[in-house]
Amino acid sequence: MRTVRFGVIGCGVMGREFVSAAARWCHLPDMRVRPEIVALCNRTLSPQRIDWFKANAPRIRQVTDDWRNLLDNPDVEAVYAAVPHNAHQEVYCAAISAGKHLLGEKPFGIDKEANAAILKTAAAYPGCFVRCVSQFLFIPAVQRIGRMLEEGAFGRIIEANVGFLHSSDLNPSKPINWKRTAAVNGQYGCMGDLGPHVMSVPIRAGWRIRTVRAVLSNIIKERPGVAGGTAACDTWDNATLLCEATDGVSDDVFPLTVRTQRISPGQTNNWYVQILGTRTSVRFSTRQINTLEILEYDGGEQSWRSIDMGHEVAYPSITPRIHQFGLCDALLQMWGAYLHELDGGQLPTRFAGCARPDETAVFHKLFSGALLSHAKSTSVHL
Ligand SMILES: NC(=O)c1ccc[n+]([C@@H]2O[C@H](COP(=O)([O-])OP(=O)(O)OC[C@H]3O[C@@H](n4cnc5c(N)ncnc54)[C@H](O)[C@@H]3O)[C@@H](O)[C@H]2O)c1
Repeated sequence: MRTVRFGVIGCGVMGREFVSAAARWCHLPDMRVRPEIVALCNRTLSPQRIDWFKANAPRIRQVTDDWRNLLDNPDVEAVYAAVPHNAHQEVYCAAISAGKHLLGEKPFGIDKEANAAILKTAAAYPGCFVRCVSQFLFIPAVQRIGRMLEEGAFGRIIEANVGFLHSSDLNPSKPINWKRTAAVNGQYGCMGDLGPHVMSVPIRAGWRIRTVRAVLSNIIKERPGVAGGTAACDTWDNATLLCEATDGVSDDVFPLTVRTQRISPGQTNNWYVQILGTRTSVRFSTRQINTLEILEYDGGEQSWRSIDMGHEVAYPSITPRIHQFGLCDALLQMWGAYLHELDGGQLPTRFAGCARPDETAVFHKLFSGALLSHAKSTSVHL
């Protein structure tokens, strides 16, 4: 089995998720390639955090607080970068220019200009395999929806609704962090955080967005500061986008709503997709991650049926087919897809791959258009 030696830059929430996925590689018995984490970089590293990484990734040989040292390490073949958005351009471009393969976190650049710079660097180094995360595509129900889209099962699309709803910021006494400051998180606010995940199905489906009308809300403008007092919370909490979309195959126009909300009472981590078509309609939400609802219309009675998806995955797993699937499984599948493709493997289906760099440009165009739409209170042509 081929081993790809990884360096992790950014050892926070997502850096740890990668270590956990790599430690469970034995779940994917058909893989001909596996990751080995050999280097770590974080701007500040507590001894406890280093101990956790070393205990769970025992091949780590380099720990540094400067990503330049990690990129200078010839032992590192590939990089997973999970740093705040204001560091994406510098770190991603440097990693690719150093000849490393890269899986970069979303939104793949703090804004459209940063994203364009990353794409330009990726194009200049075709030997580097560069992708962006897109783990929601790997949920079994979403894989099934992807296959239905490939087969044209929906007929004419009447309407589609996608969104990601949290209530993590409902509590006004939650202290400020980098995700709530525009300087570090970016002007997109909640769109940059949640939007790339939401757009993974529309983009992979090949839908094109012609116009967007956005309403953005900054609901809680101040939060407790890290060092006491209050701090400005200047990012958009919630975004509601009404888009005019076209089906890439038929060019039919349909409304697409895109909701990314950090303050959505009653929600914790609700990523959803609904597609209504003349022949088939589907509804899915991570609130019931194993359930796919389908309505097939053949002129007779209309009735939603509910399928318990179990572990119907793109990359075979040792988990029995009837066992439930969770978001950690989606991350593992996504990592499987990244390494499978890096190793020259073909994607088993169009929807079973990480986001390509050109796909990230699509959501940057949308979110930039949404900022303009909100500022001008008008619909924007993309
Ligand atoms: N795929 C997902 O589901 C998902 C979920 C959460 C966050 N993210 C994305 O992952 C990235 C990181 O988010 P997170 O939640 O892990 O954040 P985090 O704050 O938990 O971790 C980021 C880490 O990077 C370190 N860091 C900051 N600047 C650095 C630098 N210049 N060099 C080295 N280390 C540096 C910080 O000290 C911190 O430990 C972001 O792009 C975010 O949008 C993705």
